[in-house]
Amino acid sequence: MPDDPINLQRAEAHAPLAQSAPRSTLLHEFHTILEPLTLTDHFPTPQPLEVELGCGDGSFLIEWARRNPGRNLLGVERLLGRIRKPDKVGRRLGLTNISLVRIEISYFLEYLLPAASTDALHVYFPDPWPKVKHRKYRLINDRFPALARRALKPGGIVHLRTDHVEYFAQMLAVFRADKSFTEMEPPAELTEVTTDFEREFNAKGIPTNRASWRL
Ligand SMILES: C[S@@+](CC[C@H](N)C(=O)[O-])C[C@H]1O[C@@H](n2cnc3c(N)ncnc32)[C@H](O)[C@@H]1O
Repeated sequence: MPDDPINLQRAEAHAPLAQSAPRSTLLHEFHTILEPLTLTDHFPTPQPLEVELGCGDGSFLIEWARRNPGRNLLGVERLLGRIRKPDKVGRRLGLTNISLVRIEISYFLEYLLPAASTDALHVYFPDPWPKVKHRKYRLINDRFPALARRALKPGGIVHLRTDHVEYFAQMLAVFRADKSFTEMEPPAELTEVTTDFEREFNAKGIPTNRASWRL
């Protein structure tokens, strides 16, 4: 019944986002965390998906989305104080290819990111947990390659960066132990886009360690 106001309201609520309609927030509002995300709720245009795990204040995410309008970028971060910044900047720049999810990364990878949905995972300067007794909290551990494999499409890539030499050795070891991934050179167009933490470390003379792995 087209004139029924209740039906019209329902139709509007479920209508796909118009490409040009400005969104009031890029931060995803969860109705449930028990089902995988419906990616069409996040992006007006279906196109290759890249995910940044621990996007912080979005310095990489925003710039990479701006340079790649043909890719959808999903930023995952648990701290509201940090994720508010890419929300504000992304809206100000009118970026329609960004969505932000405030949640814990391991839970997101295991339960919320649809399987075989993702072309690239970016993990930049994850917390290094330098004390030996805290290393069990590191994101890139023995379980991570399997979580990444589940999320990635065939040919999908994991890009890693860290300032922490010993954590970098662990990253290399866990991926080298998983024979489904092949090491590749990080692409130049990617490495030229730096993150906030990266710029801070580099300014102190601490270099970036980078690795990329293709499924
Ligand atoms: C050291 S910062 C790096 C931020 C950004 N990638 C950069 O390079 O500028 C690590 C970020 O990951 C987030 N983070 C760490 N562990 C997380 C987890 N388990 N779930 C969600 N976010 C997490 C932190 O809140 C923080 O913003």
